[in-house]
Amino acid sequence: MKKAVCPGSFDPITNGHMDIIKRAAELFDEVTVLVVTNPDKKCVFSPEERCALIAKAVEGIKKVKVDTFSGLLADYVRANDICAIVKGIRSSSDFEYEFQMALANRSLAPCAETVFITADPQNMYVSSSLIRQIAAFGGDVSDFVPKVIVEEIEKRLK
Ligand code: COA
Repeated sequence: MKKAVCPGSFDPITNGHMDIIKRAAELFDEVTVLVVTNPDKKCVFSPEERCALIAKAVEGIKKVKVDTFSGLLADYVRANDICAIVKGIRSSSDFEYEFQMALANRSLAPCAETVFITADPQNMYVSSSLIRQIAAFGGDVSDFVPKVIVEEIEKRLK
């Protein structure tokens, strides 16, 4: 069974992430959307809130599950018999950042390949911080996040 992981801080999950997760599910037998800690970021949503939002967003998508982990991604990958780390690439700056992480993860967990999926052009400018900012000022985020979590995000961030 080929198992992949889509790691990120998902603060909150966006349509851009959803696109990558759905396309990963076409390629692998099981895809875990993994809420991991980025020590350089201070998140607004707690890990539990982020997992709950993701679980709602991916409900009904076959082969996709949600998990959370605090530690090195490479440790999770090794412990869970994962063969691929799937990341979305929106721009050349994403690639520079991801390339460095991919090399580090390859050294720490040679059992897994990092697989890059290019973002859908429609979602190239979307990011979690953009959504947080729009919602914080009372804007409409329904074009940027899955419909089932729009209300929850707007209520929480207003
Ligand atoms: N569509 C839309 N937005 C996307 C996107 C896509 N396809 N891909 C990424 N983004 C956005 C995210 O929303 C996020 O936006 P923000 O900065 O406004 O919050 C930004 O791009 C970066 O996202 P991501 O690539 O998920 O990076 P991250 O910093 O959130 O997550 C981790 C990086 C958590 C995967 C990484 O730090 C990690 O692996 N941590 C665990 C510890 C570890 O192993 N460290 C060593 C790594 S070698």
